[in-house]
Amino acid sequence: MYRAEIASLLLLLFGLKATVALGLYEPADGKVIWGAWVDSSVAGTPNSLLTAGGDSPTLFDKRLGQNAGVFQLSQNLPLAISVYDGSKLTANLSLVEATKTDAILFLTVYPVSFTNYTDEDISTLAYQLSNITDPTLSSRRVLLRFAPEMNGNWFAYGMQPVQFIAEWKRIVTAVRAITNRVAFVWSPNSANEYPFAATIPTNKTEATALDTNNNGVLDNGDDPFTPYWPGSEWVDWVGISLYWKGNPSSGTPPHDNSASPSDYWTQMVQGGPDGSNASFPFYTMFAAKYDLPLVMSEGGAAFALFQAPSSATLPVGAGQTTILQTFWRSYLNATFFSTFPKAKMFMNFEFVKYDEDSVTGEDNGVTRDYRITWNSDSLAAFQSDIAALSSTLQWAVTFVAGVDPLTIGGGQTPQSGASSSSSSGSGSSTAKSGSVRKS
Ligand SMILES: *[C@@H]1O[C@H](CO)[C@@H](O)[C@H](O)[C@H]1NC(C)=O
Ligand SMILES: *[C@@H]1O[C@H](CO)[C@@H](O)[C@H](O)[C@H]1NC(C)=O
Ligand SMILES: *[C@@H]1O[C@H](CO)[C@@H](O)[C@H](O)[C@H]1NC(C)=O
Ligand SMILES: *[C@@H]1O[C@H](CO)[C@@H](O)[C@H](O)[C@H]1NC(C)=O
Ligand SMILES: *[C@@H]1O[C@H](CO)[C@@H](O)[C@H](O)[C@H]1NC(C)=O
Ligand SMILES: *[C@@H]1O[C@H](CO)[C@@H](O)[C@H](O)[C@H]1NC(C)=O
Repeated sequence: MYRAEIASLLLLLFGLKATVALGLYEPADGKVIWGAWVDSSVAGTPNSLLTAGGDSPTLFDKRLGQNAGVFQLSQNLPLAISVYDGSKLTANLSLVEATKTDAILFLTVYPVSFTNYTDEDISTLAYQLSNITDPTLSSRRVLLRFAPEMNGNWFAYGMQPVQFIAEWKRIVTAVRAITNRVAFVWSPNSANEYPFAATIPTNKTEATALDTNNNGVLDNGDDPFTPYWPGSEWVDWVGISLYWKGNPSSGTPPHDNSASPSDYWTQMVQGGPDGSNASFPFYTMFAAKYDLPLVMSEGGAAFALFQAPSSATLPVGAGQTTILQTFWRSYLNATFFSTFPKAKMFMNFEFVKYDEDSVTGEDNGVTRDYRITWNSDSLAAFQSDIAALSSTLQWAVTFVAGVDPLTIGGGQTPQSGASSSSSSGSGSSTAKSGSVRKS
């Protein structure tokens, strides 16, 4: 039975308002965690016509004037090898630890492909995660996003739903055998423009799984999500990548610097004129149906700076702050939170990035700035908007060593003393998380 069903059964039996347990590291109802994926590559790394990098979670918190509740880092499976010293490149946990806060680590693991890692590689990952979450070691909460955007065709592992599910279960089984302190985030891409100009794979097993409307081709009538769904017992959070890059009808790739519709986030997850096929409403199909928390694993609005090959500065259009603000207001607003109560975490993609044109190749790609905290106007607008939502947004607090992440759940580290066992913390979700698995 699902928790929601158990809850309504209790309600019937006892006439009580049963408390439904929260998922692993899920904040209390009415609370939302906001954070970022920052560009911590070496400063000056050319990632565009601008040089980027050199950012860090600590610098981000300082700019924002708040302690972000979550930071994203990524690594590969198998781990990439350093060209300098031959070491294995795990995500640099110190970047998050340096904030001295209890921010959640959202770790993205990109498989090189589904055939490029061994059981030993998975075991190394499991022990790494066990160490990070161990109360006697790093003592940090971790959300793990494995093989994200698997419903797209831009990663080697993409659009292979049958194999994805098998590998998902393999990873989850291996990690859960070592630790129960890791929350698994199942995270496709939003389905606007699905199937992203991809054609149906030659592999019959995968093709049959993808062609949900059985018309022999991959098209917008095919379910972009369910072929990849492993079942709720294998998932703790559902995630989505969700971006606004300009009006899709303005050219390829979009670079018109228009603002998104004000309900853009809703259209992207539930369908709408500028969104995905409304026959496949992501929030309803997964977060609501399975009572699972939803995270925007990465997302944001882009301000287009230049387009190759001329590199001329593009017209500002609606303007950087308006473009960014229209997007963040499409989810950071009270109506949204009451409409989508399971939407509990959001991560801005805090990068400036050269985006290739996926259709025609590199030649006319666009350099886009997704950063909220870089430009002083955008930052001030954001600070003002989040101040108005202060009772909803849950920021990180000072890290206290030795606290069991499971007792924190989706709340905040208890601040009174180093021991967690007797403290209730400030989140009402304390101690409900972690011990609960859906059945
Ligand atoms: C990891 O991050 C810390 C900053 O907290 C930095 O001092 C260190 O050099 C980084 N390590 C690597 C291998 O990049
Ligand atoms: C991945 O595995 C394939 C064989 O399955 C091999 O050809 C390829 O070189 C591997 N790539 C990497 C980056 O290890
Ligand atoms: C886990 O931590 C132990 C103890 O500090 C250490 O010996 C081991 O190498 C770590 N394993 C991984 C995979 O990080
Ligand atoms: C086709 O896909 C299935 C499921 O992922 C896999 O088991 C099978 O090996 C694939 N067949 C070929 C010929 O690659
Ligand atoms: C959405 O998907 C449904 C179900 O396959 C299909 O009937 C409909 O034509 C699709 N809508 C669009 C706009 O493609
Ligand atoms: C707030 O969220 C709702 C969806 O629940 C949406 O309709 C609305 O456009 C959003 N934006 C603003 C600025 O209200």
